[in-house]
Amino acid sequence: MSLGFSSGEQELDRFLYKSVPQYHENNAGITYVAVHVDKPELILGYHYFCAAALPHDTLGAQKLTHTHHYPVLKFHTLAVDSRQKKKGIGALLFFEGLDAAHRAAPIIGLHGVYFEALDSARTFYSEYLGLKPIAPSKTKFFLSIDDIARLLAA
Ligand SMILES: CC(C)(COP(=O)(O)OP(=O)(O)OC[C@H]1O[C@@H](n2cnc3c(N)ncnc32)[C@H](O)[C@@H]1OP(=O)(O)O)[C@@H](O)C(=O)NCCC(=O)NCCS
Repeated sequence: MSLGFSSGEQELDRFLYKSVPQYHENNAGITYVAVHVDKPELILGYHYFCAAALPHDTLGAQKLTHTHHYPVLKFHTLAVDSRQKKKGIGALLFFEGLDAAHRAAPIIGLHGVYFEALDSARTFYSEYLGLKPIAPSKTKFFLSIDDIARLLAA
């Protein structure tokens, strides 16, 4: 089996090999990886996320902070190797990210999690995970810390 990660989306594969190491070196974000139990060098899936400032108008909400942004954890990239899809790895990595946000919220102050889905993953989020996009968008999602607590408890 090739050790090269291949999700079917070249941009996401390049991001893992080219950008992620640089971003880590600069403490710009964190990547959770799922690896093969007997071959830890074999990456089955990854989830890269980072702290971000979400403009108030993204949520169509009233300004509730002293800045014009909400502090959020941004799920930047979630990808699973094509040979490993539909085995629960994507959901596992997604929930690990939610758990990280949930743990960090009372320590650093976090409004929630924000992400933009690729078209190909929209049904994963909306049908399988049952999430509602931020209207009128079909691809932008926000989960408050309370939403996350409910999802983690379900
Ligand atoms: C979207 C993605 C991360 C899902 O990963 P995965 O490991 O295949 O997903 P899981 O196995 O955890 O899926 C969990 C459930 O969702 C379902 N599911 C997975 N992908 C789905 C899709 N695109 N549409 C609808 N349901 C989907 C699975 O069938 C499974 O349901 P089941 O437990 O009833 O069988 C993966 O397909 C991927 O890497 N896609 C390319 C990159 C991408 O689009 N990333 C997301 C945006 S950055």
